[in-house]
Amino acid sequence: MARFPPPLASGALLLLLFVLVSPCRSAAGGRPRAVVLPVSKDDATQQYVTVFRQRTPQVPVKAVLDLAGATLWVDCDTGYVSSSYARVPCGSKPCRLTKTGGCFNSCFGAPSPACLNGTCSGFPDNTVTRVTAGGNIITDVLSLPTTFRTAPGPFATVPEFLFTCGHTFLTEGLANGATGMVSLSRARFAFPTQLARTFGFSRRFALCLPPASAAGVVVFGDAPYVFQPGVDLSKSSLIYTPLLVNAVRTAGKYTTGETSIEYLIGLTGIKVNGRDVPLNATLLAIDKNGVGGTTLSTASPYTVLETSIYKAVIDAFAAETATIPRVPAVAPFELCYDGRKVGSTRAGPAVPTIELVLQSEAASWVVFGANSMVPAKGGALCLCVVDGGPALYPSSVVIGGHMMEDNLLEFDLEGSRLGFSSYLPLRQTTCNNFRLG
Ligand SMILES: *[C@@H]1O[C@H](CO)[C@@H](O)[C@H](O)[C@H]1NC(C)=O
Ligand SMILES: *[C@@H]1O[C@H](CO)[C@@H](O)[C@H](O)[C@H]1NC(C)=O
Repeated sequence: MARFPPPLASGALLLLLFVLVSPCRSAAGGRPRAVVLPVSKDDATQQYVTVFRQRTPQVPVKAVLDLAGATLWVDCDTGYVSSSYARVPCGSKPCRLTKTGGCFNSCFGAPSPACLNGTCSGFPDNTVTRVTAGGNIITDVLSLPTTFRTAPGPFATVPEFLFTCGHTFLTEGLANGATGMVSLSRARFAFPTQLARTFGFSRRFALCLPPASAAGVVVFGDAPYVFQPGVDLSKSSLIYTPLLVNAVRTAGKYTTGETSIEYLIGLTGIKVNGRDVPLNATLLAIDKNGVGGTTLSTASPYTVLETSIYKAVIDAFAAETATIPRVPAVAPFELCYDGRKVGSTRAGPAVPTIELVLQSEAASWVVFGANSMVPAKGGALCLCVVDGGPALYPSSVVIGGHMMEDNLLEFDLEGSRLGFSSYLPLRQTTCNNFRLG
């Protein structure tokens, strides 16, 4: 473990300078510049899964990524063995800051992470199945790699990472082997803010979701976004749009009245092939009750639209693709084409672009075929948006995982803005090519 040398002589200053500028500074000895979560896509569930290390002795923990969720939660009922966990006491400052406010006081079994007295309690949320059940809020050691796509590690360690215990049944519906969910939300104890406080990072992270069988990454910290071959997508090459804060919308089932912890953006229109789709603007805005607007969600594999928006987009897309032979619908998709009759481009199937117009014409998120179409049964290729019903609550538009794949998204919590790259292969790279260290 590298440590700063004691300042014995004037030469020590030089040595200190060397340590400060050394690019190979060990993560264990100083602050890492960034930490990462590797991401892969689970074929069976279409969920994005990651692995981190936790507990003493440390073990790898597989969990599903979630842009919502107040804290990390993991199954503490089954197989949680650790000598380093500690309860978060009822009434303590961290307990108050979690804003769930509960207190567990009467567990009569042997003490374990799932059975403690006087312990702050929270409501871990399986945001895929929408099941929630109370659990202890505790801390334990958690480690993340400081490099990506080189030899594993070195790892950077958070000695007391706060999280919530879930019951085993809460993991139902998650990808095989996943025992919890990693929250990437705005919340005080979600990964971005907890890691920023521990390591002195800016409160921001970049999300690069991979398609199946490739690797993606979540990067926390201040490292540049460098991709092979030599593509640097830091700041200037991203387009930014404000992240909106919904002051009244409920963040979860049991935290009504709290500011939304999810990521909302100000979608003001949709274009297909450059032409405006007629939409009810009221639905795109967030109303005084916190209803409406557009949310980004990794828990939803596909983009979900309120019925009137869905119909308008489907109609516009069908009109712009009248010359491509259609095939019968393949649920849950309605608009499907004969895959053999659709050309292919560097940006996926040759179909009209869908533009998500954000605040201004200059800030449009252009969605190409790779992010709008999916292969389906019998060689069909379908527009992968789904009808969320006429009362899609609370957002009218939920941008799902597939639409975000191989796009670099920077969630800048300090600047309250979202940076997006559009489809990376058009910049000669992919999420799989991200490098750090
Ligand atoms: C919790 O407190 C009760 C009542 O004092 C006690 O019987 C029980 O053993 C305690 N449980 C744990 C896990 O310490
Ligand atoms: C637009 O949506 C709002 C909210 O659902 C609704 O009250 C209104 O009637 C809609 N307007 C039109 C023209 O359909």
